[in-house]
Amino acid sequence: MRVLAVGGAGYVGSHVVRRLLEEGHDVVALDNLSTGHAEAVEAAKRAAGARAKVGQAADAHAAVGHAELVVGDAGDRALVCDLLTSRDIDAVMHFAAASLVGESMRDPSKYWRNNVGCAIGLLDAMVDAGVDMLVFSSSAAVYGEPVETPIREDHPKEPRSTYGMTKLAIEHMLAGYRHAHGVRSISLRYFNAAGAGDLGTMGEAHNPETHLIPIVLHTALKLQEEIQVFGTDYPTPDGTCMRDYIHVDDLADAHLLAMGELARGADTTAYNLGNGSGFSVLEVLAAAERVVGRGIPARHAERRSGDPAVLVASSDRASQELGWVPCRASIADIISSAWKWHSAHPHGYANG
Ligand SMILES: NC(=O)c1ccc[n+]([C@@H]2O[C@H](COP(=O)([O-])OP(=O)(O)OC[C@H]3O[C@@H](n4cnc5c(N)ncnc54)[C@H](O)[C@@H]3O)[C@@H](O)[C@H]2O)c1
Repeated sequence: MRVLAVGGAGYVGSHVVRRLLEEGHDVVALDNLSTGHAEAVEAAKRAAGARAKVGQAADAHAAVGHAELVVGDAGDRALVCDLLTSRDIDAVMHFAAASLVGESMRDPSKYWRNNVGCAIGLLDAMVDAGVDMLVFSSSAAVYGEPVETPIREDHPKEPRSTYGMTKLAIEHMLAGYRHAHGVRSISLRYFNAAGAGDLGTMGEAHNPETHLIPIVLHTALKLQEEIQVFGTDYPTPDGTCMRDYIHVDDLADAHLLAMGELARGADTTAYNLGNGSGFSVLEVLAAAERVVGRGIPARHAERRSGDPAVLVASSDRASQELGWVPCRASIADIISSAWKWHSAHPHGYANG
């Protein structure tokens, strides 16, 4: 298939681009590079090529797809429509978003404009061009404070942040575009994306970095002095918050499965993507210390407001209906893959 990957130069997007190329799909990555990296698309191309060579030797892989990066905005209806028609695109994957929870509370306008506003332009362009399949990067943030754990897709949706509200608003919009225009979509509600492609040549490179595993590994690399453990009196076994970490390559697999289901006629729906086990902040820290082979300085700090004690997904629907099985679920494997990337590229793509 020919896929438009909107936000394809970002962390999750570039890993999905690599998987699409490995499976022989052609990709146009559209990205405004606000938080993404042109080099991430190049790294995805190289990694797909390298893995295909190994695969061909074992007679396992078909030809690698072709990828190009177009620098532009997701909400530019005319540009997106032109790309969809001139590149003969079959399906769209929409990763592009501003996604910092704290920032979304300080600057809601940025989030409503960039996330919801751009999604309107993108969806209108899909209608203009007659493209009717979309895989959308949604988030666990649509649920808010959990009333039961693990969280299933039918859990109440009461997002606590503007960021979560924008993701939920887009899911509602997708239902409307399905009804009015026949655009079918699968929203994938990721829990905490983590880890890096197994060659160590691509990975997470956010600035500022707000995700626990890269922060812990940056601390191990002495790029920051210590990590702060926010709250040690939660009702969890060791008192620190527990989160569900899902390997970015497992997320990538789910995108290909979702696209396949849409191509077979699946209707609009949403799936949780997590690995079903929670790891506490202290467990992540201890696992990271084992991976890097040394202590990592940490300091206890006050709880942050709005942080639930436990956020763990039930991904049963995704496994039953998409046939998705996360196969890199151990926290040690997830952190090892991230360490391979961060230790070789301490400053991300820029000075890699
Ligand atoms: N990383 C996670 O743990 C996580 C968890 C849940 C949901 N998500 C969602 O998954 C998606 C990808 O997350 P990520 O961690 O890869 O983020 P990222 O910031 O690395 O990637 C987002 C990409 O979108 C691009 N972009 C942003 N706004 C754009 C616009 N208006 N036009 C064109 N390009 C634009 C950025 O330049 C970047 O390359 C996001 O939608 C995010 O909300 C991520």
